[in-house]
Amino acid sequence: MAPGLRVLVVGSGGREHALAWKVAQSPRLGRLFVAPGNAGTAALAENVSLAADDVPGLTAWAARHGIDLVIVGPEAALAAGLADALRAAGVPVFGPTRAAAEIEASKAFAKDFMARHGLPTAAYGIFTDFYAAIGYLLGVDFEQGGVVIKASGLAAGKGVMVPTCADDAEAAVREIMLDHAFGAAGDVVIIEERLSGEEISLLAFSDGVTVKPMLPAQDHKRIGDNDTGPNTGGMGAYAPAPACPPELVAALTRDILQPAISGLAAEGRPFVGVLYAGFMLTPTGPKLLEFNCRFGDPETQALLPLLDSDLLEVALACTQGRLAEVDVRWKAGAAACVVLAAPGYPGAYPSGAPISGLAGPFDQAVVFHAGTRLANDQVITAGGRVLGVTGWDADLPAALRRAYAAVECIHFSGAQFRRDIGGRALRRLEAR
Ligand code: AMP
Ligand code: GLY
Repeated sequence: MAPGLRVLVVGSGGREHALAWKVAQSPRLGRLFVAPGNAGTAALAENVSLAADDVPGLTAWAARHGIDLVIVGPEAALAAGLADALRAAGVPVFGPTRAAAEIEASKAFAKDFMARHGLPTAAYGIFTDFYAAIGYLLGVDFEQGGVVIKASGLAAGKGVMVPTCADDAEAAVREIMLDHAFGAAGDVVIIEERLSGEEISLLAFSDGVTVKPMLPAQDHKRIGDNDTGPNTGGMGAYAPAPACPPELVAALTRDILQPAISGLAAEGRPFVGVLYAGFMLTPTGPKLLEFNCRFGDPETQALLPLLDSDLLEVALACTQGRLAEVDVRWKAGAAACVVLAAPGYPGAYPSGAPISGLAGPFDQAVVFHAGTRLANDQVITAGGRVLGVTGWDADLPAALRRAYAAVECIHFSGAQFRRDIGGRALRRLEAR
């Protein structure tokens, strides 16, 4: 038998714990490393204390340790050129080059790319000049939908503003372009038509040519129940999303994901990794809100428990241009992830609270660590999003019961979580 493969997962959140958890189930795995990881990944892999965006450090480490595959979680590492550096050092990597990652790292590039390839998206303007942006706003009717204002660069999910009147819109442009609220990410600004409808995420594996979609998922971005309060990194997710039935997944794959992958290849930016398309299902059809160049967080925590195929095999096939040859199979049923966050999140929050109840017992549920750390054998909080608790079962209501039953077992001071994960889907299923 061939020796087991040595795999490095890069990142430290719930997404990376879920990636490591799934890779750990592969019969082809030899040794598993996570850089830098968290208290959860330490239990099933060897943590390596290198930052996710330490391109030279990670590249040298991976080459020295004979790593057979690197799976990159966060966009910042990809935008910093981690995949390029690893490839140049001869280390196979599941994740796009810096040029291909521009599909997420530059919203201006992404919008123009969508326009060049006829992919449906909100009407938009791109501005590098403050007065030109203000001039454009003069023509906007805020009674009729209004606009969304976005910093073009990476802003950790915070660079999107939805003003409700002309004054707020001007203030938003001022904040991004003149006050540099998102640093250089706001040197270029996109002002686009505000769309309405249900949002879904469709992620797909790609080897640069072939595209194989995952199940459709839905994220919950606001901190509060019923989508109230400020935006977060994501407070929960579930899959499959009934708002996006299999026929729609097939149509979105054929009409949007495949042309995007082919378009990137044709423009000399072949995309290897996970292409994440965020859609709004508007009354006039699905429209692209964004592309991301990586797995979603927390969508991954809901998706991977449903992946029947070997993630290591699929990712490796992508790096070798063989995705067409491998089966990407999904289990029947549904999964849901409930995020437990620190008190105060997404604003300022304390760290260092001891967490109890992590040993379960859990039944068809798993606790993915996000912001956690080990201190003298005790798991303590070390981030805004602390844990992602995923349950799975034959259908979504049962999966949600599994997830919330597990949540009840876990305690840390001031933990906050949404009680309505999957609520939209439940209403849709009940209405059927
Ligand atoms: P993005 O990072 O571009 O996906 O934007 C973050 C969030 O802002 C999305 O998940 C939507 O909730 C919202 N958003 C972005 N673009 C639009 C748009 N054109 N119309 C309405 N909401 C939007
Ligand atoms: N869940 C949204 C994201 O990963 O960007």
